[in-house]
Amino acid sequence: MSAERLIGLCPLEEIADPGSRGLRLEGDGDSGEIFLVRRGDQVFGYRNSCPHTGAPLDWQPHRFLDAGGQLIQCATHGALFRIDDGECLWGPCAGQRLRPLSLVVREGMVLLRRPGEGGR
Ligand code: FES
Repeated sequence: MSAERLIGLCPLEEIADPGSRGLRLEGDGDSGEIFLVRRGDQVFGYRNSCPHTGAPLDWQPHRFLDAGGQLIQCATHGALFRIDDGECLWGPCAGQRLRPLSLVVREGMVLLRRPGEGGR
């Protein structure tokens, strides 16, 4: 049997609304940079890697959104991505997507869903 595991990332209140926050995921063979974007009670998360070149997207620490706070913007060549599904709407990687994370918000905490191990 495989059980889903939930890993705490950060309290919801530590992300501006609307706003974003970068984090580093550690351990279990799945480490790397990620970021979260908040809109109200909803949080979306992606790997911090632009589909164009693999570069990190933030132009300053924890700053992933465009000036209007409506789209995710890559710092390197300015590609713009929809917040809710990570699709690139404009830029050199138009039509490609950011790699999404499976998140849940529970009791004010943003949690990452990870599949359990040994389920076969
Ligand atoms: S690296 Fe993101 S748009 Fe080029």
